[in-house]
Amino acid sequence: MVAEPIPLVNLGRLSALASADMPTSGPLIDSFGRLLEDLRVSLTDRCNFRCLYCMPEEGLPWLPAANVMTFDEITRIVGLLVRLGIREVRLTGGEPTLRPRLPALIAQLGKLPALESLSLTTNGYLLKQLAGPLADAGLTRINVSLDTLVTEKFEKITRRDALHKVLEGLEEVERHPSIWPIKVNAVAMRDFTEEEIISFAEFARRKPYIVRFIEFMPLDADGNWNAEQVLTGEEIRRVIHDWKPLVRVEGQNPSSTSRDYVFQDGIGRVGFINPVSEPFCSACNRIRLTADGGLRTCLFSLEDTSLLAPIRAGATDEDLEQVIRAAVWRKELKHHINEGAFFVRPNRSMSQIGG
Ligand code: GTP
Ligand code: 5AD
Ligand code: SF4
Repeated sequence: MVAEPIPLVNLGRLSALASADMPTSGPLIDSFGRLLEDLRVSLTDRCNFRCLYCMPEEGLPWLPAANVMTFDEITRIVGLLVRLGIREVRLTGGEPTLRPRLPALIAQLGKLPALESLSLTTNGYLLKQLAGPLADAGLTRINVSLDTLVTEKFEKITRRDALHKVLEGLEEVERHPSIWPIKVNAVAMRDFTEEEIISFAEFARRKPYIVRFIEFMPLDADGNWNAEQVLTGEEIRRVIHDWKPLVRVEGQNPSSTSRDYVFQDGIGRVGFINPVSEPFCSACNRIRLTADGGLRTCLFSLEDTSLLAPIRAGATDEDLEQVIRAAVWRKELKHHINEGAFFVRPNRSMSQIGG
């Protein structure tokens, strides 16, 4: 399955959308005064898992290879964004480790001056062989998705019998201390996660991983999400706190997705990413780049602004900067998940946006 090619955009039209108040120099800022410092780059829309809440068994209409950004195109866009004030870059997918020669891209991006953090969000399946090369290439942080610690449930949710491989992958990362911290992300779903809350908390105490629960968001490919399936972070936090008291970590960056807690006895750390019950949009500092070079200013954006089309049409960095500034200026105030009929689903699922 292959999707339609991306249309070429009209550079003049995009720049014309800028407002008179929009700064034409200085750091990237939106019309609500939020400073944009965090970029997520999707390297591919493909995945080697088929998580029930994300992708149908047969996969999705994949981007044609010709529409996917090359390493040089990625490096050019990221380099420009870093010059405009982006400090942290996270590589995502789909599954980013499916991109051949990923360590070479990491090494290339790692050379960008002023880039403070280069991280990866992965399903962990290929980490046993890749952790070493990624560490050598300069990867500084990693987040691994893991929704259950039970073999049968893992196979049911990912449609792959691969729990042991993900756990082995995580252990391999532990052998490379330059990649730190190691975070484990579990999407929390009602009637699925409750029975494992304490197992995950024990896991966070037994292993050197920050285990974070993410509230399930309406970004599933099949459009089956409903509010009843959301198991809130607060419900989970209470269960863990009643089992062993938790203490809130002070001084976290306000733009962070996660509210982290340590156990009162000092062993282990857990976090709660609560975009549904406690939206964190007002402090959002994130923008995203899809694998086909679309700039998305919100996880729930209804459209994106192609940067790849102008690049391939010969745009200069100055042209691109104006396109970027105009798009960022129009960054959405917030998502509307909790606003009933007001909420319009993005036409791309999580795997096509980049988590
Ligand atoms: P750290 O910088 O390590 O804290 O990572 P992160 O939490 O920013 O990144 P990660 O890729 O681990 O994201 C975890 C999850 O948080 C994502 O899969 C999303 O479900 C959610 N998330 C990340 N960014 C946003 C965002 O801007 N808006 C919303 N609503 N959810 C987000
Ligand atoms: N809601 C919340 N998180 C999701 N993820 C994928 N789909 C959803 C969703 N609908 C998570 C993955 C991974 C990260 C990239 O996004 O499990 O941790
Ligand atoms: Fe930022 Fe949009 Fe996520 Fe809100 S939903 S935190 S505005 S990306």
